[in-house]
Amino acid sequence: MFDIKLLSATHAAEISGVDLSQPIDDALAAAIRQAWLNNLVLLFRDQTLTDAQLVAVAKVFGEPAQSPPNASGSNWLGDFPELTCISNIKADGKPIGSLGNGEAIWHTDMSYIEEPPTASLLYALEVPPTGGGTHIMNMYTAYDTLPDTLKEQLEGKIALHDATYTSSGDVRKIYTEFDGNTDPEVAPGARHPLVVRHPETGRKALFLGRRSGASGILGEPDSRLYDALWAHCEQGGFSWRQEWRVGDLLIWDNRCCMHYRESFDDSARRLMHRAQIKGVRPVAA
Ligand code: OGA
Ligand code: MN
Repeated sequence: MFDIKLLSATHAAEISGVDLSQPIDDALAAAIRQAWLNNLVLLFRDQTLTDAQLVAVAKVFGEPAQSPPNASGSNWLGDFPELTCISNIKADGKPIGSLGNGEAIWHTDMSYIEEPPTASLLYALEVPPTGGGTHIMNMYTAYDTLPDTLKEQLEGKIALHDATYTSSGDVRKIYTEFDGNTDPEVAPGARHPLVVRHPETGRKALFLGRRSGASGILGEPDSRLYDALWAHCEQGGFSWRQEWRVGDLLIWDNRCCMHYRESFDDSARRLMHRAQIKGVRPVAA
């Protein structure tokens, strides 16, 4: 049906021989979904997709969800409320998309809501000559490789995913500037189990989400445990890097991956359209 090539030892696979601008029948959709569950991240290269076709591809993974609003509270891409624009490009001095050109910290998309998206689909329309790569971390492996002593400490623990900032550090329109309140019990955002069970694969994943604002573990008097988990993840070994080409469509399982984006030169243009799939409340493992 298609060729599949593994891109790292632990996750990410490239699928070739599929033109996603064409209708996707049930058998193909099922095979793509299974490859995605097995590999966490799928890369399709050399695609030419309209916004409507990107939404059609998104439907293979579930029901497209409304995009987070831009700074003026409206949709980034008027006719397609389910698509987000990720870009550093400005028109009339105003950003046409979010995240700018700076580094975007490690995060799970929209982990600050009660039902974070199941999947994110990122489609490259323009890419800078260097930089701007996207790193995706396998959170099954991150969990599996934790020392047993740490695993035991995570049982029953809940973390706050602060909603105040975007992954590039901008304050979301709906929140006021973080006021120095570091109490995860009261800060805005969602509270999720630190170890979750993937609803389709049944595997356990570490769910850190994002580390900004008051994010942290509830009921922990200091940040030692939280720091240890982030240090374990950031030491490397669990992530794979996507080097973008125009026409790439990258689809990750947001239930078992974190990602971050490198900065790039702001004089270069980078333009991505993103879809996200409605999710369900994460369940403790
Ligand atoms: C996103 C995101 C990374 C990138 O769209 O959610 O984090 O490479 N993007 O632009
Ligand atoms: Mn993201």
